[in-house]
Amino acid sequence: MSNRMWGGRFASGPAEIMEEINASIGFDKRLAPQDIRGSLAHVAMLGQAGILPAQDVAAIEAGLKSVRDEIEAGTFVFKRELEDIHMSVESRLTEIVGPAAGRLHTARSRNDQVATDMKLWVRDTLDSLDQQAADLQRALAETALKHAGTVMPGFTHLQSAQPVTFGHHCLAYVEMLARDRGRFRDARARLNECPLGAAALAGTSFPIDRHATAAALGFDRPTANSLDSVADRDFALESLAAASICAVHLSRFAEELVVWTSAQFNFVKLSDGYTTGSSIMPQKRNPDAAELVRAKSGRIIGALTGLLIVMKGLPLAYSKDMQEDKEGTFDALQALSLCLAALTGMVKDLEPNAAVLAQAAGSGYATATDLADWLVRELGLPFRQAHHVTGRLVGAASARGVGLEELSLPEMQEAEPRITDAVYAVLGVANSVASRTSYGGTAPDNVRAQAQGWIARLG
Ligand code: ARG
Repeated sequence: MSNRMWGGRFASGPAEIMEEINASIGFDKRLAPQDIRGSLAHVAMLGQAGILPAQDVAAIEAGLKSVRDEIEAGTFVFKRELEDIHMSVESRLTEIVGPAAGRLHTARSRNDQVATDMKLWVRDTLDSLDQQAADLQRALAETALKHAGTVMPGFTHLQSAQPVTFGHHCLAYVEMLARDRGRFRDARARLNECPLGAAALAGTSFPIDRHATAAALGFDRPTANSLDSVADRDFALESLAAASICAVHLSRFAEELVVWTSAQFNFVKLSDGYTTGSSIMPQKRNPDAAELVRAKSGRIIGALTGLLIVMKGLPLAYSKDMQEDKEGTFDALQALSLCLAALTGMVKDLEPNAAVLAQAAGSGYATATDLADWLVRELGLPFRQAHHVTGRLVGAASARGVGLEELSLPEMQEAEPRITDAVYAVLGVANSVASRTSYGGTAPDNVRAQAQGWIARLG
């Protein structure tokens, strides 16, 4: 049988493989709520504009609501021969209300319909990702407040660099998430123009009111160019780009958790709820959730890359290639949502091993910069010379296998005779972090104030 929706000039139906490659119902059925919402807005506008008689509008509206009920109840039968969600809904509508259903598609096309549906789905998803990112920020800020004074080694090149606080480290991710949320909101704001009424590509000769449908669907305004309206997938690309950057942030944190939970680091403990055991090695506690957060960045970035490649050679306006926007977008944004939820759970349960962190913070001559700074501040040495003197002292301490603070004053004075007892005050890890009071620095008072500020702002 040729297709009921567009089969007028077709004598026979599609080949089996044609149907398989062509159908999107398997994955676009999740757009049913958006599709029905769009159709309700469209048919109401057709009625108000006098394009459809009121009784047809009423019948179509009632029919669309029954279709929605069937889909929500799980009784709706999706059929591959109906290709996609748009034709599935319309076909069922025809069964319910009869020939009047055929008037719903007046002054629109699946091209503007699918663009509208996708925008509605992506918009809702961006809103919920923003909320989830805020939840993670809150969990991190609360941990930061609790551990504003918990010292740990700060790293560059994954070599101990200078002591920082655990709270400061957590707040670094709060900042990243703030930028992520800004990107979600930017994408949402740019997305929020309604393509409905652009029809297939050229607009329509019917006296439609695109401002009315845009407003009914919560868009700021209709899109301005009908070709662009149906050919544009920037909103999906931008959302995937924002999602990719966020996923990279989550992946970096997840990587730290994987490293920090290893026996060699032993910096933090994840809860039983977010670790697994090994079926063969009883001692193991594997950070699987963190590993999967790290890994899922792959499919999120993959979805962005995939869609960029789909779009890059497409002439205006719509091409069926664009149907390939869906699976990757759905999958990637859903994966990000799962990652945000899992990481929030991990952070809430996370226990830093304060003693191990403090011990590690003091090792590796992490306060050498404090010594150099002291030489500059107290003795007026140029920084380069202070660096050199400190280097000699680190060499002396490491030759003896001791910390800088364990060198005696005469040993210190061999490198620089003017060094006094006062130097010992800056060599401890606690002194080091407390002195980092510059704006954005790791001093516990700074961290406490920033964590409190975030908690207040996040509500
Ligand atoms: N399933 C299609 C998609 O996802 C809907 C639009 C079809 N338009 C068309 N001209 N064949 O893109």
